[in-house]
Amino acid sequence: MTNQRIAVIPGDGIGPEVARVGVRILEKLASKHGLGLSFEWFDFGADRFLRDGTILPAGFMETLRRDYAAIYFGAVGDPRVPSNEHAKGILLAMRFELDLYINLRPCLLFDDRLSPLKGKGRRELQFTVLRENTEGLYTGTGGTFKKGTPDEVAQEVEVNTRKGVERIIEAAFTFARTAGLRKVCMADKANVLLHGHGLWRRVFAEVSRRYDGIAAKAMYVDALAMDLIRAPEQYQVIVTNNLFGDIVTDLGAALTGGLGIAASGNIHPGRVSLFEPVHGSAPDIAGQGKANPLAMALSGAMMLEHLGHGAAARELNAAVEAQVREGAHTPDLVTQLGGPAATTEQVGQELLARLQG
Ligand code: NAD
Ligand code: IPM
Ligand code: MN
Repeated sequence: MTNQRIAVIPGDGIGPEVARVGVRILEKLASKHGLGLSFEWFDFGADRFLRDGTILPAGFMETLRRDYAAIYFGAVGDPRVPSNEHAKGILLAMRFELDLYINLRPCLLFDDRLSPLKGKGRRELQFTVLRENTEGLYTGTGGTFKKGTPDEVAQEVEVNTRKGVERIIEAAFTFARTAGLRKVCMADKANVLLHGHGLWRRVFAEVSRRYDGIAAKAMYVDALAMDLIRAPEQYQVIVTNNLFGDIVTDLGAALTGGLGIAASGNIHPGRVSLFEPVHGSAPDIAGQGKANPLAMALSGAMMLEHLGHGAAARELNAAVEAQVREGAHTPDLVTQLGGPAATTEQVGQELLARLQG
């Protein structure tokens, strides 16, 4: 049995609370399915940064590339670090330096009762977003001039490369074909951002010609935001740039039960990749046992799938679905489903018990 080493980075706020549950569940599945996974914990985050200045130690990316099969990540962000510099230096740095160009974010409704849209249920709310994850407005390119004066100039430059745009669009069509889906939508703002988003339009048209039988639609992102509320059933796969993808996937989470159950992968096919919930460190509920661990668990299922453990991934997905439909809930889901509120740990225990059955 090959050993696959997983680097666990729980991070800040509710990150460690949900990571504890997630790892316990993955350990159970690993032993049940004989997967040979080992989990090693790293304490990078705000506490460590404030204590000794470490964001990530020198050589850490190389270590990840060389020794680890995947990264299982909680969340970063802490009000004591208002600049968010440690979060950028941890999470964004891994996305960029490990070249995790696919941010895969499924928006799948598990239970009709979680839909906030009148008349839209499981059949209508089933789309997946592939967000470009290594460029766009996230690269830090730009600067300020005359800072703090009335003449201040502040610029962020959106970076769109031919290679970056082409590979994420290609990934979206490949994903659709593999999943047996027939519609890919690309969202941009090419009516205003003529250069960069003009590139997205041209590449999208070009790549789509290579995928017979898949309907390709290019849309402006404002129209897409409206349409995801009005007619979400029209969308199966959405591909978009880094910033629009960030926004559209919080919207997608809200349509499918909320951030407490929204999972994601940061993927470079064939290389060490990172799996994390879509949510952040939620300082407003940290330390209170209120965090929903299901997004972390579902991200674990995505990681299992990526590592080639499809059967274990399916078992975990089914257990989470059963938990949503029949089990106890943290307060975020109680608001939608009713019932008494359970803690992070209680939900975790129930989920674990479902795997033993
Ligand atoms: P957030 O996702 O942390 O929280 C938004 C809202 O959703 C809050 O009301 C929170 O209580 C709720 N929520 C989030 N996760 C939940 C869960 N598992 N269970 C129940 N409720 C949950 O976003 P925010 O408040 O905008 O950001 C807080 C911090 O997290 C910031 O520092 C931000 O930069 C960071 N952040 C990090 C990541 C990440 O690490 N990937 C993602 C988003 C935000
Ligand atoms: C996300 C988060 C991050 C992003 C932040 C924390 C840098 O919002 O993963 O969705 O903007 O990508
Ligand atoms: Mn986000």
